[in-house]
Amino acid sequence: MTDEHRKVEVDEISGVNTTGHEWDGLKELNNPLPRWWVWVFVACCIWGAWYWVIYPSWPIPGGATKGTSGYTQYDELKASQAEIIKRQEAYLDKFDKSSFEDVMKDPELYSFAVAGGSAAFKDNCATCHGTGAEGGKGYPNLNDDDWLWGGTINDIYTTISYGIRSGHEEARSSQMPAFGKDSILKKEEIEQVVDYVLGLSEGKSNEAMPGYAIFQSNCASCHGADAKGGRDFGAPNLSDAIWLYGGTKDEVTNTVYNAHAGVMPTWQARLGDSTVRQLAIYVHQLGGGEKDETKSVQTGVQSPVESPVQVSE
Ligand code: HEC
Ligand code: HEC
Repeated sequence: MTDEHRKVEVDEISGVNTTGHEWDGLKELNNPLPRWWVWVFVACCIWGAWYWVIYPSWPIPGGATKGTSGYTQYDELKASQAEIIKRQEAYLDKFDKSSFEDVMKDPELYSFAVAGGSAAFKDNCATCHGTGAEGGKGYPNLNDDDWLWGGTINDIYTTISYGIRSGHEEARSSQMPAFGKDSILKKEEIEQVVDYVLGLSEGKSNEAMPGYAIFQSNCASCHGADAKGGRDFGAPNLSDAIWLYGGTKDEVTNTVYNAHAGVMPTWQARLGDSTVRQLAIYVHQLGGGEKDETKSVQTGVQSPVESPVQVSE
């Protein structure tokens, strides 16, 4: 741009000086900044300076300037968490003093327990049973009503408390014999009984099959004469086409030959009774829960308290 183009002149129409910039014949007027804009700008500068002094703001090695007010978001979070924990304690106290039956009758307390159980489930149980409790091979689905050890809230509570084949003296511990490995049945007998078992869920088995007699004398004591399972022994229903260890001929033969003995840890000592009770209520409401003395569960109520989060600086 040459000096000639930068010539400041007075605009004829508005009477305002131009800046001297010109582009293709268009000239820029040198209007002053609007007064409101200047004031907002000044106010922002003052506010900015005030903020630097009061609040943590300037990054410095190892963090930021602290500010004179002592404010931190950690404190704010801690305060709100403390409030949640205080409200939670009130419910926890009430929960711990209530029987399962009473909890079931109190929609708020019930929802509180389900929320607590759900959180504890994700932390402790999902690794084996899946986040949706859908299970997997060797790990039972907890959403259905196919129970190995029973689906009333007290059954579930006992299972979670002491585990299964966990070594705890109260644990559920019965075990299926390894009919092949320990030479209890001959290979041919195993084949026959497997045929009979596989046919049950397909409605193809009958008492004339050779496997029937073998089943009655070797298996019925645990699985029941009708093969519908025996919960005192954790023996699954063999007639429902739900298979914990797989339902192909090879898989069932392997089960009968070697037997399985799934292990579930004991939780009472690790999590404490209150959490175990919340877990029992949570698992019970997943879909397969059975009634015992408890009745009229109201669901769909929001937990009155949210769960606190861990705060670490
Ligand atoms: C290390 C893996 C593992 C973990 C972790 C685990 N479980 Fe299990 N759970 C099992 C196995 C395996 C079985 C089946 C045992 C059997 O074959 O009888 C089982 C069975 C159960 C049953 C009995 C199901 C029925 O049909 O009777 C319940 C209820 C249960 N688990 C709940 C839980 C809860 C609640 C937690 C968390 C506190 C949990 N489990 C954590 C492995 C686990
Ligand atoms: C002492 C009790 C007992 C006896 C007797 C017994 N079972 Fe079992 N059976 C069990 C238990 C307990 C399980 C579950 C094992 C586990 O969960 O790890 C089981 C599991 C099974 C399964 C696996 C089911 C699935 O869902 O995958 C089959 C199949 C089976 N038994 C067949 C038989 C047959 C056939 C016989 C007789 C030859 C027999 N059982 C005798 C206790 C017994």
